[in-house]
Amino acid sequence: MNIVHCLSEWQALRPSLGGSVGFVPTMGALHEGHLSLLRASAENNDVTVLSIYVNATQFNDPADLAKYPNTLETDLAAARAAGVDWVLLPDYSQIYADGYRFQLNEESFSQQLCGIDRPGHFTGVLTVVMKLLNLVRPDRAYFGLKDFQQFTLIKDMCRTFFMPVEIVGCEIVRERDGLAMSSRNQLLNHAGRQLAGRFNQLLANAVDDEHAWQGLRAAGMQVAYVETVGVRRCGAVVIGTGDEAVRLIDNVPVDVAEDSLPLQDIAR
Ligand code: PAF
Repeated sequence: MNIVHCLSEWQALRPSLGGSVGFVPTMGALHEGHLSLLRASAENNDVTVLSIYVNATQFNDPADLAKYPNTLETDLAAARAAGVDWVLLPDYSQIYADGYRFQLNEESFSQQLCGIDRPGHFTGVLTVVMKLLNLVRPDRAYFGLKDFQQFTLIKDMCRTFFMPVEIVGCEIVRERDGLAMSSRNQLLNHAGRQLAGRFNQLLANAVDDEHAWQGLRAAGMQVAYVETVGVRRCGAVVIGTGDEAVRLIDNVPVDVAEDSLPLQDIAR
């Protein structure tokens, strides 16, 4: 496994990579969800590229960025075992040599769900993903469906800008109690972790969004939103308070009559 810090070095060697290239962009703190993306890429491509870059521009809250877990040594060992060939470890000055003068905005879906209380979040995500896709030029890029809104926006962005990449969505990997794997789970204290295990069940078992919202609140979670988008019920909650507050997202499939959906939602 090769590790590259310098993006101009990467750009010089990229044309020498033969065969199909699969790409998994991450912010590190790799868990089973990330590893499932890496394995899918390694199985379906000749070369797998992983990037680990904690993207400051997508954190609207500096405290959230400051506590983002950094587990680089274990990440690299796990990446090697998952079949990664190349790891990119750029820094801010290389990714944002323009000082974030150029930004990629989406004016509709990015303003809903997580966009409501995370202003600028999806602009940061789309901008960095566009840069990374241009650097790696993969045939396929892999994203987890836990971040359903992110996945949808990235897929739409690539279609909109005629980018020659297949955006592959991979199923959510869960803990035994149903909690979706997330780097943020490490930040939960014991009581928070117990409560977080009920998030998925309450989202999945409610008859509608309103009942899911009520159930989550009654269990002791602060609910940011519960909303069915197309065929998925999406939710975000905050568990704990003050310095110990952790924001989690999840989504579950729901049965929606297909003739009640706009065409683009059925396609998703
Ligand atoms: O999902 C993530 O980890 C990040 O949003 C991503 C796609 C790596 C962009 O920084």
